Amino acid sequence: MGALINPSILSADFANLERDLGAIAGADYAHVDVMDNHFVPNLTIGLPVVERLVKASRIPLDVHLMIEDPDRWAPGYAEAGAASVTFHAEAARAPVRLARELRLLGARAGVALRPATPVEPFLDLLSEVDMVLVMTVEPGFGGQSFIEGTLPKIRRAREAIGAADLDVWLQVDGGVSRTTIERAADAGANVFVAGSAVYGADDVAAEIGVLRAMADA
Ligand code: DX5
Ligand code: ZN
Repeated sequence: MGALINPSILSADFANLERDLGAIAGADYAHVDVMDNHFVPNLTIGLPVVERLVKASRIPLDVHLMIEDPDRWAPGYAEAGAASVTFHAEAARAPVRLARELRLLGARAGVALRPATPVEPFLDLLSEVDMVLVMTVEPGFGGQSFIEGTLPKIRRAREAIGAADLDVWLQVDGGVSRTTIERAADAGANVFVAGSAVYGADDVAAEIGVLRAMADA
């Protein structure tokens, strides 16, 4: 499987989400950042908006939940039709149970790690999830710069996935651009979230192709 490019609509115009979803119709998934002002110091959108985005989008949704108590809230996003639902390891009380519930509801289940969260305590989760998200910035805001110190963790996660012979996707999110995507791909990532790099480009559709080609090179 080639690299997947998931533009983050956090960098879209929230008054024109349908238009801005249309601009990324050539991408693999639309990345949707849900923030609750508790797990991260920022507030975005919640379930009622995501329910509408599922209907308005021509590509599947990749929902990234930066919220407290995902055990309670995450299944609703799967029920709403999100193709992938990622919760944070630091916030989940019963991550195995939650991942199983998301899969039973028909979604891909993802587990996310903040930049300072080591991957080793969560390796037992690998067989229960479809994706690991290594945050390459501190979650909360778009437009931050890529933390190079996360590259060894991406490598360790990819090695563990390979050693267990699992088909788990490895996503990176934060500061992904033409400048950084090759290093993240070289470390083993195969799913790339990019917000400002895509929506800030002169030609949004072309930028998706450029990033995909660089990640696949
Ligand atoms: C940050 C979000 C990211 C954000 C990435 O907390 O999870 O998805 O939109 O934005 P860029 O690509 O601009 O760093
Ligand atoms: Zn995100």
